Amino acid sequence: MKYKEIFMRRAIQLAKNGLGFTSPNPMVGCVIERNGLVLSEGWHYKKGMYHAEFLAIHNVKNEYLFLDCTLYVTLEPCVHFGETSPCVDLIIRKNIPRVIVGIEDPCDKVKGLGIKKLRKYGIEVIENVLINQCRILNKRFFTFYEKKRPYIILKWAQSDDGFIYSENQKNNWISGIHARQLNHKWRSEEDGILVGRKTVLNDNPKLNVRKWFGKNPIRIFIDQKLSISNSYFIMDGSQHTIIFTEKSEENQKNIEYIKISFKEKIINQILNFLHKKQILSLIVEGGKETLEHFIKENIWDESRIFVCEVVLKNGLKAPEIEGIISKKINLDKDKLIIKLSI
Ligand SMILES: NC(=O)c1ccc[n+]([C@@H]2O[C@H](COP(=O)([O-])OP(=O)(O)OC[C@H]3O[C@@H](n4cnc5c(N)ncnc54)[C@H](OP(=O)(O)O)[C@@H]3O)[C@@H](O)[C@H]2O)c1
Repeated sequence: MKYKEIFMRRAIQLAKNGLGFTSPNPMVGCVIERNGLVLSEGWHYKKGMYHAEFLAIHNVKNEYLFLDCTLYVTLEPCVHFGETSPCVDLIIRKNIPRVIVGIEDPCDKVKGLGIKKLRKYGIEVIENVLINQCRILNKRFFTFYEKKRPYIILKWAQSDDGFIYSENQKNNWISGIHARQLNHKWRSEEDGILVGRKTVLNDNPKLNVRKWFGKNPIRIFIDQKLSISNSYFIMDGSQHTIIFTEKSEENQKNIEYIKISFKEKIINQILNFLHKKQILSLIVEGGKETLEHFIKENIWDESRIFVCEVVLKNGLKAPEIEGIISKKINLDKDKLIIKLSI
């Protein structure tokens, strides 16, 4: 591995600590290197908290050390005032002579302006080091700015013979305990979780994070005629919940009703709304009909399918989905297949 890539790889590793906590900000990691050694490190660990560059810089007490150091950062440093002051100005003030950037920030407020300003002040900038890995690190953030919608993950569990539900298996899980725990970890990583109305009626899911730690995603479901009563977990107000409906209804504690037209494309209306709400990612956990709307309209980025040992013989057939297989993992008796949309 090349010298520069070693430190950028470390910066990526640090950035990943922010997964599930930084949205709508990106995950960012920073390493300050001097004479081939790590002088300091930092990562953006939570929305509203310090940026990676700020933390890495402030760990260094002897400012003379900056004079011959290199700062590695996974995403172009910010140039605008947000919840913190611009990192670019801090780098300039500290006389850091060289900055290595993983990838340009796609957000209009930055988009090359950070790099431009650094160069204007005589700082050497090298761009696009481990660019693909830096992009994948922030796949949610890039999708949000480039496609103007959240990053969409379709998830389901199916039996070995390809069913997602059967009367034979009623009240029993298709997937094993570790697959279910992993699913809770995934929930903690995304901003929103969406299910179909019939899944709410049949399964009464809580859609929270119980088997992992981290924040609960915003629960989202489509209920045209508002047929789900307050007795369902999804209506208990324990976490922010958004219901897309044709009815006008007053919001309750943590329950937000959004009126949409059922004569127009529903998924587009939902995604536009979520984009405006700065929801960077969405995990869709079934059922079949809901998943198939996303598949048919080809509005998805990743699918995570558990193929499980159980044989159901009949029931609701699993959706069919194409895409590039990016991972196949065995998890106890379940097989996890991750596909990326083409
Ligand atoms: N194995 C798994 O991983 C898994 C996961 C989840 C669910 N399930 C199973 O799947 C079953 C339910 O699946 P399902 O296919 O019958 O129903 P579903 O997808 O849960 O719900 C379908 C309903 O959601 C609303 N809806 C969803 N997308 C819509 C869209 N784009 N436009 C308009 N309305 C939309 C519609 O409600 P209206 O009827 O009001 O129009 C539609 O009838 C359950 O029995 C559950 O156990 C399995």
